[in-house]
Amino acid sequence: MIYFDNSATTKAAPEVVDTYAKVSANYWGNPSSLHKFGEQAFNLLEQSRQQIADLVGAKLSEILFTSGGTEGDNWAIKGTAMAKREFGNHLITTEVEHPAVHNSMEQLKQEGFEVTYLPVDENGRVSADDLRAAIKPTTILVSTMAVNNEIGAVQPLDEIAAVMRDFPRIHWHIDAVQGIGKGLADKIFNDRVDFVTFSGHKFHAPRGIGFMYKRQGRKITPLMAGGGQERNLRSGTENLPAIAAMAKALRLLLNDEAAKVQRQRDIRLAILHHVEKFPNVTIFSKDLPVFAPHILCFAIAGVRGETIVHAFEEHDIYISTTSACSSKKHVESSTLQAMKVDDGIATSAVRISLDEHNTMAEAEKFNQVFDELYTQFAKLS
Ligand SMILES: Cc1ncc(COP(=O)(O)O)c(C=O)c1O
Repeated sequence: MIYFDNSATTKAAPEVVDTYAKVSANYWGNPSSLHKFGEQAFNLLEQSRQQIADLVGAKLSEILFTSGGTEGDNWAIKGTAMAKREFGNHLITTEVEHPAVHNSMEQLKQEGFEVTYLPVDENGRVSADDLRAAIKPTTILVSTMAVNNEIGAVQPLDEIAAVMRDFPRIHWHIDAVQGIGKGLADKIFNDRVDFVTFSGHKFHAPRGIGFMYKRQGRKITPLMAGGGQERNLRSGTENLPAIAAMAKALRLLLNDEAAKVQRQRDIRLAILHHVEKFPNVTIFSKDLPVFAPHILCFAIAGVRGETIVHAFEEHDIYISTTSACSSKKHVESSTLQAMKVDDGIATSAVRISLDEHNTMAEAEKFNQVFDELYTQFAKLS
């Protein structure tokens, strides 16, 4: 089996599952309880928080646990909108965001907020000049992703940071769900960013757990009201087994990160340079440094993305159409649309997404199967 769909989700690591099971069995107390079971659970909760804070270079109080990327995105956006409404009602984001960001913005539009969507170039990236031009006295939030989930474009975060430094009051949120463990930490945790969202299941932690970095001093309104957990910002009894498992997964992910990133980059290029030789292939994530090491999106003209996915599945190779969210709903890729890719070719797009365990042998096997399938598709068309 070759699993090349890691941007949809990753397989939980055995060590991580082990931590989950051990914490469930041995630390079942409620961290808010006053007795020893509560205290043990609370200590483990804060140890996990400290471990994550250390791994990403943040302070203990800047790490808040969430249920994943969707919640983190909703919270950073709606929580800012609620906290800063008296200062303005203008929000800025990009045309290529995940639905968790896009649809949060659309919901806020219904509530009277004004949203500017920044356009992207042929590589799916916004321009810092467009961002600067879009900022108004009423702007309260800028939300930009780190790595695009459909094509792997890395947004120009250094240039965006340079603009944002001139507007210190505006909140800046980065959706880094696809960017963790990909050699981008310096760009993501820059000196200006205020909120960063992460999702555990994208890096071998269980589903339903994630975390948000919130710069100290930045104000955000809670979306979950209740017992006041997470420093009064996110109520609900903490999912301690998943939190401890996520801390473990993050430690494993970031161990020897540079070598893992290089390996993914080499595998991506081995496939890219192979498939680009075929005349009916269009590459959307090119061989350029502006693309993340683990995502490759391409189309085979005249063959629907679903057909390509199922054809590979016959060979025990698992890839996807451009994103897990859109793949079952037959929604066109919003990123390719924003890049002004013709609909005819966008419907033929597929995505390969790697993790640190994929190997060059798998890439070779993929390329061999690709040759066979390409010939079959050519005959059919
Ligand atoms: C860029 C991006 N943001 C947010 C999400 C949502 O994360 P979750 O699945 O944890 O809700 C995803 C999931 O694919 C994503 O790729």
